[in-house]
Amino acid sequence: MESMGSMKRSHYCNDLGSANVGEDVILMGWVLRRRDHGGVIFIDLRDRRGLTQVVFNPERNPEVHAKAHALRSEWVIAIRGKVTPRPEGMVNGKLKTGAIEILVDELRILNKSKTPPFPLDEEVEVSDQLRLTYRYIDLRRPQMAEALVLRHKACQAIRATLNDQEFLEIETPFLTRSTPEGARDYLVPSRVNPGRFYALPQSPQLFKQLLMVAGMDRYYQIVRCFRDEDLRADRQPEFTQIDMELSFITEEDMYTIAEAMMVTLFKATRGIDLVTPFPRMTYNEAMSRFGNDKPDIRFGFELTDLTEQVRTCGFQVFRTIADKGGMIKSINAKGCGEFSRKDLDDLTGYVGNFGAKGLAWVKVKEGGEWQSPIAKFFTDEERAKMGATLDAAPGDLLFFVADTPSVVHAALAELRLELARRLGLLKKDEFSFLWVTEFPLFEYDQEAKRHIAVHHPFTAPMEEDLQYLDSDPGKIRSRAYDLTLNGTEIGGGSIRIHQTEMQEKIFGLMGISSEEANDKFSFLLKALELGAPPHGGMAFGLDRLMMIVTGRDSIRDVIAFPKTQKASCPMTDAPSTVARKQLTELSLKPDWKES
Ligand code: AMO
Ligand code: AMP
Repeated sequence: MESMGSMKRSHYCNDLGSANVGEDVILMGWVLRRRDHGGVIFIDLRDRRGLTQVVFNPERNPEVHAKAHALRSEWVIAIRGKVTPRPEGMVNGKLKTGAIEILVDELRILNKSKTPPFPLDEEVEVSDQLRLTYRYIDLRRPQMAEALVLRHKACQAIRATLNDQEFLEIETPFLTRSTPEGARDYLVPSRVNPGRFYALPQSPQLFKQLLMVAGMDRYYQIVRCFRDEDLRADRQPEFTQIDMELSFITEEDMYTIAEAMMVTLFKATRGIDLVTPFPRMTYNEAMSRFGNDKPDIRFGFELTDLTEQVRTCGFQVFRTIADKGGMIKSINAKGCGEFSRKDLDDLTGYVGNFGAKGLAWVKVKEGGEWQSPIAKFFTDEERAKMGATLDAAPGDLLFFVADTPSVVHAALAELRLELARRLGLLKKDEFSFLWVTEFPLFEYDQEAKRHIAVHHPFTAPMEEDLQYLDSDPGKIRSRAYDLTLNGTEIGGGSIRIHQTEMQEKIFGLMGISSEEANDKFSFLLKALELGAPPHGGMAFGLDRLMMIVTGRDSIRDVIAFPKTQKASCPMTDAPSTVARKQLTELSLKPDWKES
């Protein structure tokens, strides 16, 4: 193996073009592929930025050419050579450096490589397990590198926007107490305090509020958060938030700043000019029109309530459910009248996953005729009225779900999405933001028989709903807001409670006794008594946001070293066992069997 010696890289591979013809350059990188053509050896040399074709010609330099014979995929080399135009007919218009090639005068082999676990020079399906085991190889693939580059640009754009607006970037501790975001904590035992544990923060929520009490006024941090919860494509056990908190603001200020951040971020990463202000919708409207609180508004298929219309109809299922206080809602899948029996059976099975006990459907024919297993249960008049309410036209397909409101909403919200997927309506280059506002402050936990905070217990109630504090807490709306993008919640926050009495009252309504509140949050309650300003903030999920910006299907694709669905890392084999001695030092007595 050779050293770089006095060679110093002059360009990234992707930097070169016709303007450099005649220059002597030095490139360093990895051999993507080698082709031998009638004695001449061609190498596609790759680095983080891209590719350049380098050429070893026996006539130019027989020694260097002989050496190039040994080169294999992913060997690391340095070359010095002259930039020349590619011969007539050999120009590759698809490649940024496709008009030139480098005639090599010097080659140094800096390192060899075993055959990589999967090829990098072609688009092949590689299992997630293998990709994560060799993540450093996976990241050499251009589309992976691109995601990390865009993530970097996004962070820079965010920092620039916030720095311009008087924000301070301040770090908060990782070894701390439990923070109430509703997931399980990752615990870290304290060696010097036997039997005591730190919790890794689920978010910097309490610290950022304390920074407001400290007078810092505007805080942000691009920060890791830890949540021990069941993983999905858009959830990781450690993930990154763009976290913010501001004093003396209202919701409107927060919306303006968040929108400005998104505008700069989309410009910097995708060159896209977003239109602001983003549309807004209350939680109640989102539930009623779309069935969930993070509607994807890139497409229609809205929900229509037919409960009143079918209350007296001849279809027993609908009547009984309406009588029992349930709900019947419908989606008009415009133009889907050609769906096959199999499609309909598949969709019925699909909504079953979300609790629906059936999926009634109607194909609307010429003249408004109904082709449907349930057509016979309705009078001509009823059918005409329902058709008019649903704006039904020949060629449409109507779906109905009858159940409790929560099942109807969950099933139809998922049906909407599934229809959009099947019809190819989820365009990756369309970005539809939506603020969802006026969330309920509490939801009722049937098991625990008490109210719990929908956002978190520090969220302020809406002034006009304070009248229900004692009489009907379930009716109180909060000053919380979420920002959704293409049906994903990319951020959320609220205006906070900044007065002790209100905070204690809210804890009380949630069945948190003053002892419990004091035990968990006494430092916050104390701080609220010592001159806390009105404040509020929000946090974006950076990984989720970047998943959408880069058009990927999983947040793992925008995280350098993510974890699997089982919260493990196949590359480092974390989590791992530890020596007994380490546990003893931590005063921990294991009762599990060692494997
Ligand atoms: P919240 O819990 O809504 O709010 O989190 C804010 C945003 O973080 C993202 N997110 C996640 N991303 C990846 N993996 C996860 N496991 C995960 N969990 C959440 C989401 C979400 O919108 N302290 C409050 C914010 C505030 O009130 O200021 C908080 O953490 O995109
Ligand atoms: P049945 O009379 O049970 O064969 O049902 C007739 C049609 O109504 C079938 O297409 C069922 O899928 C549908 N159906 C049954 N229960 C419900 C329900 N709760 N909501 C919507 N459709 C239903």
